Amino acid sequence: MESLDPLSWSWRSIFVGIVGSSVVLWGVYKATRSRRRLKLQLSDKVVCVTGATGGLGLALSRTLAAQGARLVLTGRNMDALRRLSFDLSEIYPQIHAPVLVELDLADLAVLESKAKEILNAFGHVDVIIHNAGVSSRGSVMDNSFSVDFEVMKINYLAPVALTKEILPAMIKQGGGTIAVVSSVQGRIAIPERSSYAASKHAIQAYFDALRAEVHEQNISVLVVSPGYIRTNLSLNALTGQGKIYGKMDETTARGMDPMEVADRIIRAVETREEELLICDIKTQFAIYLRTLRPSFYFKLMSKRAAKNKTDKR
Ligand SMILES: NC(=O)c1ccc[n+]([C@@H]2O[C@H](COP(=O)([O-])OP(=O)(O)OC[C@H]3O[C@@H](n4cnc5c(N)ncnc54)[C@H](OP(=O)(O)O)[C@@H]3O)[C@@H](O)[C@H]2O)c1
Ligand SMILES: *[C@@H]1O[C@H](CO)[C@@H](O)[C@H](O)[C@H]1NC(C)=O
Ligand SMILES: *[C@@H]1O[C@H](CO)[C@@H](O)[C@H](O)[C@H]1NC(C)=O
Ligand SMILES: *[C@@H]1O[C@H](CO)[C@@H](O)[C@H](O)[C@H]1NC(C)=O
Repeated sequence: MESLDPLSWSWRSIFVGIVGSSVVLWGVYKATRSRRRLKLQLSDKVVCVTGATGGLGLALSRTLAAQGARLVLTGRNMDALRRLSFDLSEIYPQIHAPVLVELDLADLAVLESKAKEILNAFGHVDVIIHNAGVSSRGSVMDNSFSVDFEVMKINYLAPVALTKEILPAMIKQGGGTIAVVSSVQGRIAIPERSSYAASKHAIQAYFDALRAEVHEQNISVLVVSPGYIRTNLSLNALTGQGKIYGKMDETTARGMDPMEVADRIIRAVETREEELLICDIKTQFAIYLRTLRPSFYFKLMSKRAAKNKTDKR
């Protein structure tokens, strides 16, 4: 009698146990996901997007305009901002005309007054999405310190400075959302991206700490960590000498559709989520390795550095 054989019986119970618990876990996962109701209606809400003229910023602005949000859009290029605003008003004539703020995030001295400009655009801010960012290309040996500093200013210190100015008003009005576009490189560092990965790790940590501090004040903090997105990020990346890299990396070109990423980010804002990881299974596995099997992850990265392929994000 097969069922009396203790070994086969135990294997069968292990199998049934694994399948059974997977089904239960899947059910719990589905149930909790479907319970994620919209907690924030974006229609008429004041939403500020930094770096609105870039690939993801553009997609976020379009998605938000479609929701009827009142937009405050920032960027360095006023002409590009005006074109964007014109296009949005054409496609969504019912929305309030976006307020445009010329803003160079590398210029830390102006951030306090620029934050006031953002706040004064509609009298308050419900949601700020720190999206603007710059990538870097080059080894630690090749990168000048000024590039490390520049990337840190734009990707980390500038959003921190803006947040510090806007936060008191958000607390006073009884709630709000601060979203930051980090990267999977806020979770794992890869060779030749030292400054970029460091700036994204920094922003993740800073806003994780902030989330806990402002939870009681009804302010939600969302950190978004996407993998490759099909934008001009690599074209606009800085080389070790601070020049524009100017190449479209194949990984970026094959990346996710910015509209799809924007949709998921806006959905996470609406459901007041705390984190959003948008990447393929391979990158998820890398994050898992970095956390639970660090020395194996480091070995893989050393191999990658040794190969020094030119086509990397
Ligand atoms: N593409 C990806 O694979 C990927 C993956 C993960 C995370 N991300 C993150 O997604 C965000 C959006 O990037 P993207 O992919 O859309 O790249 P992008 O097309 O290069 O856009 C970057 C945006 O940031 C702005 N920006 C750059 N330097 C600035 C500065 N000094 N002051 C003000 N604004 C500045 C640019 O504005 P200007 O118009 O003024 O140049 C542009 O709007 C970034 O934070 C990036 O790190 C991207
Ligand atoms: C990306 O760069 C190309 C070439 O410089 C430009 O034509 C295009 O408008 C840029 N796209 C975005 C979304 O900024
Ligand atoms: C990778 O190769 C490029 C040239 O192909 C070189 O400039 C760079 O220093 C190399 N990086 C490392 C980490 O060896
Ligand atoms: C919390 O903030 C949300 C949106 O920011 C708002 O709709 C809600 O009314 C606030 N809740 C309380 C209790 O103030």
